[in-house]
Amino acid sequence: MSSVIPQPVVAKLTRAAIFLVVTLKPGSQPEEAVRGLCGDLSSFLRAVGFRDLEGRLSCVMGFGSEAWDRLFGQPRPSELHPFREIKGQHHAVSTPGDILFHIRAMHMDLCFELATHIMSRLGDAVTVVDEVHGFKYFDERDLLGFVDGTENPVDQDAIDAAIIGDEDPGFAGGSYVITQKYLHDLKAWDTVPVEQQENIVGRKKLSDIELTDAAKPSYAHNALTTIEKDGEQLEIVRDNMPFGEVGKGEFGTYFIGYARSPERIEQMLTNMFVGRPPGNYDRLLDFSKAVTGTLFFVPTATFLDNVSAEGPAPSTSGAPAGGEGVVAAVESPQSPSDGSLGIGSLKGEPVNE
Ligand code: HEM
Repeated sequence: MSSVIPQPVVAKLTRAAIFLVVTLKPGSQPEEAVRGLCGDLSSFLRAVGFRDLEGRLSCVMGFGSEAWDRLFGQPRPSELHPFREIKGQHHAVSTPGDILFHIRAMHMDLCFELATHIMSRLGDAVTVVDEVHGFKYFDERDLLGFVDGTENPVDQDAIDAAIIGDEDPGFAGGSYVITQKYLHDLKAWDTVPVEQQENIVGRKKLSDIELTDAAKPSYAHNALTTIEKDGEQLEIVRDNMPFGEVGKGEFGTYFIGYARSPERIEQMLTNMFVGRPPGNYDRLLDFSKAVTGTLFFVPTATFLDNVSAEGPAPSTSGAPAGGEGVVAAVESPQSPSDGSLGIGSLKGEPVNE
């Protein structure tokens, strides 16, 4: 059975990450350089990751809407479009970004080494518009002091939330990702009594226990980001990371959310920034300013492996219509805890456990 291997979108959470967002310079040479990297990314990962197999190095490469057209043309993922800004009680800005590298590992040295090789290969084909080095902060807390990630779906639920299936057969095994860099006003946040902070987040600060339905305000962050369609909860896979620069007084959360459709993340953002109902917005935003906003499509690892510098891949995701092979492939753990590398990267071979 032919099969495609997704990129490690649902990799287990790690202690370190680098988020690199670049724009593509004009002309055909930069396009060739990026396509050349696509085919070689898996070997970079093998080379760097093999030096510390316990380090669980992985990398997800995503493409913005215009970059997709320049690099690969038709066909294109059905829901790929530029990030749409939202102007509500607060402003979700849309900022430039053609390619995302989401590099994760247990140690920053692995992330740093891989990012260095990627950037030296790309050379002046691209301009880095944002680079964030994220770290885990104590027991999975964000810099606001709350445990972040608790309700993330895991295992098959994560795959169901993040990986495209039959709805777009040519791109089955792919995913969409939205990133936003938030800067917190910690001085103001620290003046808010803990009980009110807990109402804003919807969970207890120390214990991380969720507030009861009776106690939780409708504006709580975890209320506004809980959405349903036809009675079913629509989930996303998040891997937020704290970052900052103490000397500058910069304290941030890098939000990254993967989903099989960008619509569900956009719905959550509307609820947060405009409010549900309008006006009943997310008070986290009174203390957190979104300074970037980008949307990318994440093709399968199989697709990347088949891209050559000269032109687009001969097939799209490599998925058989209906995406059956995808299901077979994504059932394998995406986390390289087994010592394998996180990109799939097996030149079209399905992963067998
Ligand atoms: C300043 C940026 C953000 C911070 C500090 C933050 C923090 C948190 C925290 C502390 C939780 C509760 C624990 C958990 O289940 O993870 C949470 C839950 C959640 N957040 Fe965020 N978040 C941020 C932005 C966003 C954005 C932009 C989205 C989506 C567009 C989002 C979607 C969610 C979802 C879906 C949940 C789980 C809700 C549930 O099922 O209980 N978050 N977030």
